[in-house]
Amino acid sequence: MSYNSLVIRRTWTLVAPVLLATGLSAQIFPAPPEPAGNPSTPGKVALGKALFWDEQLSSSRSVACGTCHRWDSGGADPRTDSVHPGADGVFGTADDVVGSPGVVRHDASGAWLEDALFGVQPKVTPRKSPSPINAAYLTELFWDGRADDVFRDPVTNQVVLASGAALENQAAGPPVDEGEMSHVGRSWTDIANDLPNLTPLALATNVPAALQTFINGQTYAQLFQQVYGTAGVTPQRIIFAIAAYQRALVSDQSPFDRSLVGQYTFTPQENLGRLQFNALCRNCHTDLEASVRFTGPTFPTGRYRNIGVRPFAEDPGRFNVTQVVLDSGKFKVPGLRNVELRAPYFHNGSEATLLDVIDFYARGGNTNVNQDPLIFNILGAISPNDRTNMVAFLRTLTDPRVVNQQPPFDRPTLWSETANVPTTFGTGTAGTGGLTPRANAWEPGLLGNPKVTIGVDRVQPSTFAFIAWDLFANQAPTAVLGHNVYLAQSGAMATSGVGLTQGSGPGNGFASLTFSLPPDPAFAGATLFGQWLLVDANGPVGFSSSNAFGVKLFQ
Ligand code: HEC
Ligand code: HEC
Repeated sequence: MSYNSLVIRRTWTLVAPVLLATGLSAQIFPAPPEPAGNPSTPGKVALGKALFWDEQLSSSRSVACGTCHRWDSGGADPRTDSVHPGADGVFGTADDVVGSPGVVRHDASGAWLEDALFGVQPKVTPRKSPSPINAAYLTELFWDGRADDVFRDPVTNQVVLASGAALENQAAGPPVDEGEMSHVGRSWTDIANDLPNLTPLALATNVPAALQTFINGQTYAQLFQQVYGTAGVTPQRIIFAIAAYQRALVSDQSPFDRSLVGQYTFTPQENLGRLQFNALCRNCHTDLEASVRFTGPTFPTGRYRNIGVRPFAEDPGRFNVTQVVLDSGKFKVPGLRNVELRAPYFHNGSEATLLDVIDFYARGGNTNVNQDPLIFNILGAISPNDRTNMVAFLRTLTDPRVVNQQPPFDRPTLWSETANVPTTFGTGTAGTGGLTPRANAWEPGLLGNPKVTIGVDRVQPSTFAFIAWDLFANQAPTAVLGHNVYLAQSGAMATSGVGLTQGSGPGNGFASLTFSLPPDPAFAGATLFGQWLLVDANGPVGFSSSNAFGVKLFQ
């Protein structure tokens, strides 16, 4: 019998057979602290899980917390082709950031509004999404730590939890953030009024069995009653449940963690990487101290460091919070568990792979102003062989439950990950200035959805817009009067006048149309196709026209 299984037997006599069978060990870290005012219960965690993965929490019904934080991506966002133009507001320059797309700027009626940077395309966050996994051990959240651990009720602004509530404080943000999940001017009261009658996770598929059993066909109003003992969907209760769910997201089963309790032996290569990591990197990345076994991955000292990712004029980081000049360019030292899954790296997503990150350290970073002296120690200390050893070591930080999305990291499939997302296809027909109108559709065609918005951009402002609709379309166009027509002219054709396009300046015009879908299951599986037509003297027969969009209808 090996030493490893002896240890397991001694410590975990009762659970050992199960653990050995699954290959997983019992919890290694101590449970994260929770504020006394928001004790976790299994029901609250399950409710928070439903809310975290429910795109209906956003006013557009298209963005959940989980849209930007997915466990198979280590808690980060797999949509790595989304760009924020950075402080200069210009796309395609050095300060661009790989961020996360949220909602299109829109008002309470659903109508799209022009955003200075993104027009009527989904807005992208100015930083890369960090992971909520193990965030329960931190007292300050975000790359610059601006979310402290005091939770104020978002309606009354009264302090509800005076400490230990960074997750509650943070969760109050995104649902009312106009870049992430919210229409302009949405309040927490609006959200609490919106939620009660909704069917939890109506948009999601593959809901894990335990979560499905918990929901059991109930509405949110009924679930809140069940979890909290009294009726009421309140902002505070929504936030408390989401925070409780995130407190259950403890990742401590990586090979590295298991090595701390004698359940994993590093390969020679991983071990070389580990020794070098200990010498050059662990001073800052203290979540890889052996003591995490007793404390959890906290960052007791030196949470914010300037490693020289980019000039701090582009993003001053911690300085924004403290206004201390020496904090310029400092960012929170991220926990490294599951880092392999979180590419691209750093707060701006500027390094594509782990090897690129090691190269970054080997060359002493990108900019030296106010840089942490520990980075100078690394300069020149990493040989080509060392780099691959270190990457091998960093891969031992991946928790198999995270990458395989097993409990507590199991989750529903988001609507946005399915074939039920709207599509756009084909090419429109140009009008004035050679401009071809572009159709946009990003919201769910859930039958019964009271507000679905579709739109068009890249058109002239103040010109009349309408839509031709059809339930059938061809992927290849038919030429009709000089236009690329995708609608199949099936007889199910209709048109809607939308009115004058809005927007500022040539080519920046846009229009949107919001409609409700009947809750009629007979339409499930059909697709509502359309093409925009815009009055334009320079287009064929006095119009320009867009490519086609298709809103899939489902229940
Ligand atoms: C549109 C994408 C998006 C959505 C939606 C979103 N987040 Fe985030 N999240 C981010 C980004 C980007 C950051 C980092 C922002 C920063 O540091 O300035 C972040 C930071 C966080 C953090 C801090 C992690 C850390 O280590 O500091 C937590 C926790 C978190 N989000 C949870 C949530 C929850 C809960 C929701 C839903 C209520 C949510 N997020 C919705 C993009 C998103
Ligand atoms: C001076 C403190 C410091 C040292 C030394 C240091 N790091 Fe970091 N590390 C940070 C900070 C701070 C960040 C986040 C920087 C940012 O995004 O702007 C970071 C980010 C990372 C990331 C990216 C994580 C993510 O989620 O994007 C990896 C991987 C990493 N470090 C590995 C290493 C390795 C390997 C070494 C040693 C060669 C090392 N670090 C040395 C402070 C440090």
